[in-house]
Amino acid sequence: MSDPRPILFFDSGVGGLSIAAPTRAAVPQARFVYVADSAGFPYGIKDEAEIAARVPALLGRVAERYNPRLIVIACNTASTIALAAVRNALDIPIVGTVPAIKPAAERSRTRTIGVLGTAATVRQAYVDDLAARFAGDCRVIRHGSAELVTLAEAKLRGESVSVQAVKTAIAPMLAAPDAGSLDTVALACTHFPLLADELAAAFGPAVSFVDGGPGIARRVASLTHGQSFARTAPDVAVFTGPIGTGLEQTMARYEFARCTRL
Ligand code: DGL
Repeated sequence: MSDPRPILFFDSGVGGLSIAAPTRAAVPQARFVYVADSAGFPYGIKDEAEIAARVPALLGRVAERYNPRLIVIACNTASTIALAAVRNALDIPIVGTVPAIKPAAERSRTRTIGVLGTAATVRQAYVDDLAARFAGDCRVIRHGSAELVTLAEAKLRGESVSVQAVKTAIAPMLAAPDAGSLDTVALACTHFPLLADELAAAFGPAVSFVDGGPGIARRVASLTHGQSFARTAPDVAVFTGPIGTGLEQTMARYEFARCTRL
């Protein structure tokens, strides 16, 4: 019998679209529900306790409402802080998004990599652990930026974003002692791949980028392999708070035909 349960993507804002897009290409037959915690946005400047309390409770609520077969926490901040708690609380597969330090280290020739995320993500012990396990022989330059999150949200609302604004936001990373040899940056916030062109222009040609999107798309395809899908309803984007002006068109471009409030 075909199964109408969707795959649910969760982020504080529009960042999760950088995960939903490659996953859609990998699992085109699935129905997607996108949940943006716009009432709680931004996560990156919140403390751990607030995120640890908010994310499992909210995901419990939306899981009850939308009955997903699988949830992708398409947010590094929420995943590095609350992934274990969400897995404990819910009885469905949960895929988290954690900084792509392993692929960055595999790709780096200079053995100097960057981890560009939110302030809350880059200070997590989860990141220390990934760096120790997969990038033990690399210099790892971390930088947390709230400005880049704001710029990505603005871009997806249809506003223009200047390379100069992105340069200003990444300046502290480029001022780090080993930054001259930086060749690979892990985009450790799902908002940042949405600024791929601006980031490429700001960092220049010596630096390349990796993010979690392709790996998560493969993981979701493997977890849902052989499952049946019935698309009995259109894909929806659900906001916990205000829906920014201009966002409905963007969500429609990503095939979320309807935007609604939780
Ligand atoms: N997109 C989120 C992440 O991957 C965080 C953005 C925010 O600060 O809310 O970390």
